[in-house]
Amino acid sequence: MVCLTAPRARRLILVDVSDRPLALCRERFAAAQNVEYVLSSGNDLPGVADSSVDAIWSFDVFVHVAPADQAGYLAEVARVLAPGGVAVIHHADGRNLGDLPSSSGWRAPMSRHLFATLAAQRGLEVAAQIDSWGADARYDLSAYHDAITVCRNPDSAG
Ligand SMILES: C[S@@+](CC[C@H](N)C(=O)[O-])C[C@H]1O[C@@H](n2cnc3c(N)ncnc32)[C@H](O)[C@@H]1O
Repeated sequence: MVCLTAPRARRLILVDVSDRPLALCRERFAAAQNVEYVLSSGNDLPGVADSSVDAIWSFDVFVHVAPADQAGYLAEVARVLAPGGVAVIHHADGRNLGDLPSSSGWRAPMSRHLFATLAAQRGLEVAAQIDSWGADARYDLSAYHDAITVCRNPDSAG
């Protein structure tokens, strides 16, 4: 794993539901003074202060998380993002809509429409939903039918 973000951020908060990945990150980034580690219960960001985070990035996590817990995280995203802050979240988009067990890719039942609705219900603005990016769509999430939703915490000043 590489962590290109740590040198660029004043403060970097790493979150996982499991101790082991966090322990490995602690070892890996032992020299970094600006990294914090949060053990989530699966749908929360304990100890992260309200309106204290400028940007959130999650990749290859929500695709495996139950919809109710994704909704819990979106409420936490709305809580911890500063006004104008942005969250970029990779999630499933329809590969598994709950009719059958998700034995291929272990995708959670989620669609981009439901994800956007859950985000909006929690006060987030949905700025974009994409499934590829880069020159000639070089980066492409279609193999597992995933998407990325970009959410913004509205700036209360408008
Ligand atoms: C497939 S790994 C991806 C790790 C990393 N994002 C990457 O792209 O290399 C999925 C990670 O999500 C974590 N995870 C699974 N469910 C979670 C949840 N509800 N909340 C937070 N982390 C979770 C797992 O412990 C694991 O570290």
